[in-house]
Amino acid sequence: MKICFVASEGVPFAKTGGLADVVGALPKALAAQGHAIEVFLPRYRATMAGKQLSSVAHVTLPFRPELKFATIEDGGQAAGVHPYLFNSPEYFDRDGLYQAQGQDYPDNARRFGAFCLGALEFLKRFPSPPDVIHCHDWQAAAVPIYLRSLYREDPFFKNVRVMFTIHNLGYQGLFPPSALEDLALPAGLFTMQGIEFYGKVNLLKGGIIYSDFISTVSRKYAEEIQTPEYGCGLEGVLRSRKDRLTGILNGVDYDDWDPATDKFLPMNYTANDLRGKQTCKAELLKKMGAVNPRLERPAIGIVSRFAAQKGFDLIAEIAEPLMAKELYVVALGTGEPQYENLFRQMAARYPGKFLARIAYDNALAHQIEAGADMFLMPSRYEPCGLNQIYSLKYGTPPVVRATGGLDDTIKDFNGKAGTGFKFTEYSAEALFGALQRAIETYRRQAAWHVIVQNAMSQDFSWTQSAREYAAVYERLAKSGVQGPAVGVG
Ligand code: ADP
Ligand code: GLC
Repeated sequence: MKICFVASEGVPFAKTGGLADVVGALPKALAAQGHAIEVFLPRYRATMAGKQLSSVAHVTLPFRPELKFATIEDGGQAAGVHPYLFNSPEYFDRDGLYQAQGQDYPDNARRFGAFCLGALEFLKRFPSPPDVIHCHDWQAAAVPIYLRSLYREDPFFKNVRVMFTIHNLGYQGLFPPSALEDLALPAGLFTMQGIEFYGKVNLLKGGIIYSDFISTVSRKYAEEIQTPEYGCGLEGVLRSRKDRLTGILNGVDYDDWDPATDKFLPMNYTANDLRGKQTCKAELLKKMGAVNPRLERPAIGIVSRFAAQKGFDLIAEIAEPLMAKELYVVALGTGEPQYENLFRQMAARYPGKFLARIAYDNALAHQIEAGADMFLMPSRYEPCGLNQIYSLKYGTPPVVRATGGLDDTIKDFNGKAGTGFKFTEYSAEALFGALQRAIETYRRQAAWHVIVQNAMSQDFSWTQSAREYAAVYERLAKSGVQGPAVGVG
């Protein structure tokens, strides 16, 4: 089948979080199973910075009062995947992907509308359409919205199906009603049955109602988002489409995330020979500023976007009893100022023990996966989460809250079986209890050896999940099911 991915980030072109890992890896796995995959991404300032790429098309974007124009560039075919970059300096030649200084760009609706229109106009240059356009998150949600409105009569797209994957319901693409004009969308869409949401334009809602099939990135999250607690106001919309909603777990690209081959580590290691992990730990603690590091003490790793989703307010609550213990915390992250400040304050209060770097640093992210003994993700909600799956491979058992993909990927350790430590209630006590169990287990060398081996033997490669996606694509291509058309009136 011929599948076109539309997404706002993807490794190796642009990344702020796990979406980029998925968009980098899933197409490769699908291509390995014989499918032809195109990936459509924006070209940001940092994307292949300064490199001249060959342009393959010029597209016209039907905005008012004047038309806009963009160039589509060839990202270079590799491993059966063909990336294309949407180059529009006006909208994307900026430092941030979505925001600057913590503020979303005010023209985000127009930016990603332009990107989605660019994708459709570009696809029309091919002799035949793709079987499925696979859109990811709100930034690509305008694709199904355009297809069911502006492009409704376009014969080229008549048999094209749209799959929409929700990576995070917390980001919906909410805009004032004036965004309809910025998007060149008909006013008739602004109803409760359409993309109106409490007086605003909600692009994610449009993605959910106008796509032919919807998925999210774990089974547990697919269930959770149909409840008021996790549905972010869209639980009713999601429930109304539940026969077209499924959860497919993210996989891992072990080409990038494997301690046996990881090029960012001072020494590689495997489950059979863990000496390199100790070297990674020693180097990491030194690099992060621990003086005479005590290697027998456990090091708790954190690598994260700092957002309310990630649950770090719980750490603030247990700071004192936790840091009274003989351990290290090694944290890397950037994001909302309140959490950046929290980590800075903790580092100042517990120097040499709470080691924090407020930055985005891919090499350090790998070094923490390897050099830490356990990995902490106390998320309030987590659609899938990739770091806990990486940490399994690196022999760094995760301590996680049992939500979304964290619950689906980690089994609680019972002394024999299990790969990590889980807690359920979103509370400081519950988190502290799980951390205490992890630290006590760490002190029992034989038990720790068992959990590390259990963790490292897990296989979360993309093969199985790619098959599940392909099965949905096939079902869509065959069944002729199509989302509702909408009036443009
Ligand atoms: P989310 O997508 O919600 O941020 P995931 O766990 O799915 O969470 O993916 C996060 C990805 O982003 C991982 O690949 C992780 O290593 C990376 N990452 C997050 N924060 C940083 C950072 N400060 N520096 C480097 N990589 C980071
Ligand atoms: C989102 C989610 C994360 C998920 C990632 C990739 O950013 O927060 O849980 O792993 O998307 O699907």
